[in-house]
Amino acid sequence: MAERTGRTEAVASSSGTAALELALRALDVGPGDEVLCPALTWPSPAHAVVRLGARVVLVDVDRDEWNAGPEAFAAARTEATKAAIVIDQFGNPARGAAIAEALGGVPIVEDAACALGSRFADGSPCGSLGAIGCFSLHPRKIITCGEGGVCVADDAALAEKMRVMRNHGQRSPASFAAPDGNLRLSDLAAAVAVAQLERLETILEARRAHAEVMHERLAERYQLQRSPEGAVPNHQTFGALLPEGRDREAFIAAAATRGVQVGRLSYSVDRLGQVGDQGPLPVAHELDERGVAFPLFGTMSEAERETVIEVLESLA
Ligand SMILES: Cc1ncc(COP(=O)(O)O)c(C=O)c1O
Repeated sequence: MAERTGRTEAVASSSGTAALELALRALDVGPGDEVLCPALTWPSPAHAVVRLGARVVLVDVDRDEWNAGPEAFAAARTEATKAAIVIDQFGNPARGAAIAEALGGVPIVEDAACALGSRFADGSPCGSLGAIGCFSLHPRKIITCGEGGVCVADDAALAEKMRVMRNHGQRSPASFAAPDGNLRLSDLAAAVAVAQLERLETILEARRAHAEVMHERLAERYQLQRSPEGAVPNHQTFGALLPEGRDREAFIAAAATRGVQVGRLSYSVDRLGQVGDQGPLPVAHELDERGVAFPLFGTMSEAERETVIEVLESLA
C-alpha cells in the first residue's frame, strides 16, 4: 500500500474507522481541538473526531463533485483547527493540492477509504495527500479482506506511534506507552488483502469500463458525480441525484421489483445527531435527501450492466 501511494510507511488496522482513529490520535487530536470534515459521508470520520473529545466542524460539499473544496475548507478554518479530514468521496479524488494550499500548514488526514487506485488531477495517487492517508478494506471497497484498514504516511515516527497504539500501547516487550486496545489487522486477513492488491489494476479496469458505459447512457437522465479535470476516479460507488420531488423510497422499490438494487447514497452527518450544532449545509442536505447509488461491480457481466441501464433508463 505504501508503494501504491508513493509513501514510505503503511500501518494496517482492523478497519478504515480504526485507521482514521489512529491517524487522528497520532496527530494528537483531543479535547479543545476542532477538526474539519466534509459533511457528506458515512459518519465514520466525523464520529471518530467526536469519540476523541474534539469538535468536528462540518464543511459543505461541492454541488458537482460531492467533495468539500478548497474555498469551503479555508472558510471553516479557525485558530482552534487542529487538523482537516479530506475525503475522496465514492472514490472521486478531492482537489487535494488546492485544499492543502488553502489550509496553509493545517495537518491533513486524507480519508481515502473509498479511493484506492484513484488519482488526483496532478496524477498523484489518492492516499498520498497530507500527513496520513487512510484506506478501508471493507467489502464495499475496491479490495477487501472482510474488514480492515490501512494508514499510509511518510513520517517514520508518526507510523511507529500508530503501530504502538494499535497494539495495546506496547512499545517493547515490557514497556507500554498507554492503556490502548487492539486495532490490529490479522495476518490471515492481510494475506487476503495482499492477494487482491496484486489484482488491483484488473479490478480497476473492469470497474472503469462499466462506469464509462453507464455514464454515457445515464448522464442525460440523472445528475452524476463529476471529477476534477484530469483526475481519475475508481468508481467505488456509482452515485446519482434523483430529480427534485422524486420519491426516493418509491424509486428504490420500483427498481427492486425489476431486480435492480438501488441504495441510498450517503448522509449529511449533522442529521445523525452525534456532532452538535453545525452551520447551514445546503448541498450536503440535498445529496442526503436525493442521492442514490446504482449497482456497479467489477465482476458484473455486460448483460447485467445492460439490465441495470435499461431499468434505470425506464425509471428516470
Ligand atoms: C468515507 C469513509 N470513511 C471511512 C469509512 C470507514 O471504513 P470501515 O467501514 O472500514 O470502518 C468508510 C466506509 O464505509 C467511508 O466510506
